[in-house]
Amino acid sequence: MKISIIGTGYVGLVSATALASKGHKVTCVDIDEDKVKKINQGTSPIHEEGLEELLSKAIQEKKLKATTNTTEAIKDSELVFITVGTPSKENGRVDLSYVEKATRDIGKALKEKKEYCVVTCKSTVPPTTTQEKLIPILEEESGRKAGEEFGVCMNPEFLREGIALKDFLNPDRIVIGELDEKSGNILEKTYREFDSPILRTSIKAAEMVKYASNSLLATKISFINEIGNMCKELGIDVYEVADTVGKDHRINRDFLNAGCGFGGSCFPKDLRAFISEAKKEWKQEPKLLESVIEVNLDQKTKLVGLLEEKINLEGTKVSVLGLAFKPGTDDIRNSPAIPIIKKLKSKGAEVVAYDPEAMENMKKIHPDIEYADSPKKAVQDTDACLIVTDWPEFQEVNTPKLTLEGRRMNKGEGICW
Ligand code: UDX
Repeated sequence: MKISIIGTGYVGLVSATALASKGHKVTCVDIDEDKVKKINQGTSPIHEEGLEELLSKAIQEKKLKATTNTTEAIKDSELVFITVGTPSKENGRVDLSYVEKATRDIGKALKEKKEYCVVTCKSTVPPTTTQEKLIPILEEESGRKAGEEFGVCMNPEFLREGIALKDFLNPDRIVIGELDEKSGNILEKTYREFDSPILRTSIKAAEMVKYASNSLLATKISFINEIGNMCKELGIDVYEVADTVGKDHRINRDFLNAGCGFGGSCFPKDLRAFISEAKKEWKQEPKLLESVIEVNLDQKTKLVGLLEEKINLEGTKVSVLGLAFKPGTDDIRNSPAIPIIKKLKSKGAEVVAYDPEAMENMKKIHPDIEYADSPKKAVQDTDACLIVTDWPEFQEVNTPKLTLEGRRMNKGEGICW
């Protein structure tokens, strides 16, 4: 199929490359000329496992190209995906300006186009957005009728940073929210090479599925963190509890790893947006989800409190292992390490940090701490160590009495979950 993808951020580029690898002819559109140039050279502007390899193959085989011109791209596309960002506004609600701008550009391009085409929103937008905001823009700009002269779908993504390509190519399910059967049938054709269940829903149900999925995953994390805090108090290993509870197939072990709480670019943003929307637009009081956020905020610096029960932080040297919001990425957005380091500093501790990927990013936020070039160096001559992100390479130091190559901490024990 001939497909256009508007927005070559994380979701856009991964989707474009994965779809090209399945034999589709994909044109990426972005306003950033530098990005377009890089993509056309087969260079990925973002780091994601396996992406550059597959991207350069798609470019060589002429399955993928990039342009800044929306009208040109859409001219011979049967399907257009909107994959631009939906950041948070100050008040927590979703900033839809990029989605609306992309939709307007697509509407203008549709006016010039004779053939039927399906516009599909992949960006995460609050339920009813596509129907109530995007379709009217498309109709106004194109002068055509949705469901008659062009199709509309909503196709949420569930990609995890670091393994996004794998997630795209092997999804647990593909959700197609459709305006009408014809639109859904065309979108379904895109996924004919995929070996995953396809679920067809209304557009607003598909939008809700995305928020409900992220909210439930975040709820599992806050839940196990609350249990973990009780376990810590009672000397119980929360991981043993999670392993055993998770054996119940109704519960499932995934996303029951206690730790410093969830971070990243999605869960915190999507939960806040969902809650704001529910309160302002749907007259709801989502108390459970508000607690999920509250537990998560408290959880981020709990580790420092645990350390303070053992040592007085004033004048001590503390190593922080793990700065990224999760292993396998250099992304520090909403990483628990940020408030942890802040709190350690405010308590008068000197901090030495180490992360295999995220140190350069953390230097921009905490430039005044020491950065070590190995975990071993990070814990040398420190009084205590906090393991914040569970990178596999920290396994060797993840023992009750923290030792690294036989060396003990001066005063405190190493602390992790
Ligand atoms: C998430 C969703 O998984 C994905 O479907 C959605 O499209 C985008 O948001 P991502 O942010 O890349 O993906 O990371 P994920 O692996 O889900 O982890 C999110 C956060 O939860 C991380 O901070 C992680 O450390 C934390 N987490 C995860 C836990 O604390 N415990 C767990 O058991 C699992």
